[in-house]
Amino acid sequence: MPARPDDHLTIGEVIRRTGVPASALHFYERKGLIFSERGSGNQRIFPRHMLRRISLIIVAKRLDIRLSDVAEVFTTLPTDRAPTHKDWQRVSRIWKKQLEERRRAIENLEQELTGCIGCGCLSMKACLLLNPDDALGGRGPGPVRLQSAPPP
Ligand code: FES
Repeated sequence: MPARPDDHLTIGEVIRRTGVPASALHFYERKGLIFSERGSGNQRIFPRHMLRRISLIIVAKRLDIRLSDVAEVFTTLPTDRAPTHKDWQRVSRIWKKQLEERRRAIENLEQELTGCIGCGCLSMKACLLLNPDDALGGRGPGPVRLQSAPPP
């Protein structure tokens, strides 16, 4: 078998280096997050710089960043070389902002839940968790959720 270029890794090497299983690598590839090429004998080989992209995916998973958000940010990264230090700083700033927004949303929900503790009214009109911003108010009077529910 002819030697593959040093700047490429087999899927086995990628698995060993990253700890990411083959099924996940195939999934990320189908989602367009990473890319492979075909080597001699039609073997799947990965450009070495894909290790950085995979590292970013691992970090994103730890931060619970949605894969769709990872994909969005990856459209701004180079595909022919490893992301640079500057790329990583930009991506990490974006993800930090997303985490801050999520934290604020959780804090708001927590405040609303605190208002419900000890209440128990479960009012479609008054309860912020059941009817945030009185979103159901514009749909007319009565139990609009029950009225629009499909028959059992
Ligand atoms: S249960 Fe009464 S305000 Fe939510």
